[in-house]
Amino acid sequence: MRHLLITGGCGFIGVNLIRYLLSPKSGFTGVIINIDKLTYASQPHALVEMPTDRYHFIQGDISDLRLVEQILQEYSIDTICHLAAESHVDRSINAPSAFMQSNVMGTFTILEAIRQNNPHIYLHHVSTDEVFGSLHEDEPAFTEQSPYHPNNPYSASKASSDHLVWAYRHTYGLPITMSHATNNYGAYQHQEKFIPRMLAGLLQRKSLPLYGDGSHLRDWLHVEDHVRAIWCILQMGKIGESYNIGANNPYSNKDLLHLLCQIVANQQTVPVEDLYALITPVADRLGHDYRYAIDAKKIEVDLGWRAQINFQQGITNYVRWFIETYPH
Ligand SMILES: NC(=O)c1ccc[n+]([C@@H]2O[C@H](COP(=O)([O-])OP(=O)(O)OC[C@H]3O[C@@H](n4cnc5c(N)ncnc54)[C@H](O)[C@@H]3O)[C@@H](O)[C@H]2O)c1
Repeated sequence: MRHLLITGGCGFIGVNLIRYLLSPKSGFTGVIINIDKLTYASQPHALVEMPTDRYHFIQGDISDLRLVEQILQEYSIDTICHLAAESHVDRSINAPSAFMQSNVMGTFTILEAIRQNNPHIYLHHVSTDEVFGSLHEDEPAFTEQSPYHPNNPYSASKASSDHLVWAYRHTYGLPITMSHATNNYGAYQHQEKFIPRMLAGLLQRKSLPLYGDGSHLRDWLHVEDHVRAIWCILQMGKIGESYNIGANNPYSNKDLLHLLCQIVANQQTVPVEDLYALITPVADRLGHDYRYAIDAKKIEVDLGWRAQINFQQGITNYVRWFIETYPH
């Protein structure tokens, strides 16, 4: 793997992946080319210090076939890690069109560019546990065999892109792997997402809107554990296989918000009750999935990856980073 194209490399997971790969601890020795459209969600400031001999940035849209083909040829791309997507469920409910364009047509364009130019390029497609839909309290966590059951425009667009990727594997034999991860947290996440949005509200002592009764359960994964898992798959993943990535940290939104209040109260030495008082229940999200949970046994057993970051430690360190760098 010498010439790695990362799509959406200026997003939350992308910047963490690029920073990790270009650090000595990863062992990656090749060159990274990052194509990103620079939407509102992007965090290009996180990449300003990347070494110019090993990192090239191209501002562009993955739906532009000519541009993608030109990049594959000009940089002799041998591997693609495909992250680019519209990623916020609330936006997908209010304005789904961009999700279909970037997530479905964008993935289609990447696949076509590979098929038409060099069908030996290895593609890793980064997907989400949300394609499997919603679990009840007592149901077992999603495995790689769980059926698809997307419930909102975001997860439907990601499920569509997954289906396209599998179809190109089956029909044209393209060398492909895929992964489905749970909710990520960590540095450089856009402030529209739950944890940074609540932290920004806490620092400004503004009201903290909590959907419904706050009982919805999410399974939290530190973004640095996620990017190590992606790197593990890029090196050792078996072609044609899918891997679930999770750390088994289930929290209801309400419990997580209480925890954030406690950490901020500790770090700013203010009474936690003052922060709890900011929590404001609001009307539930349309079609809100109740629970996501990932069974990560396959990647643990087959590839030897395991989440390393303890949730309490990881979230406390993230809150500290957020306070130090706020406003970003
Ligand atoms: N964040 C999570 O918790 C999570 C969990 C599981 C899977 N994922 C998946 O990981 C991937 C990355 O997620 P993220 O949280 O970093 O998202 P993000 O919204 O933070 O970043 C997405 C990046 O993609 C870029 N982009 C969007 N459309 C583009 C297009 N048409 N052409 C080029 N670039 C485009 C944006 O400019 C942005 O920099 C997504 O595919 C998402 O579905 C995310």
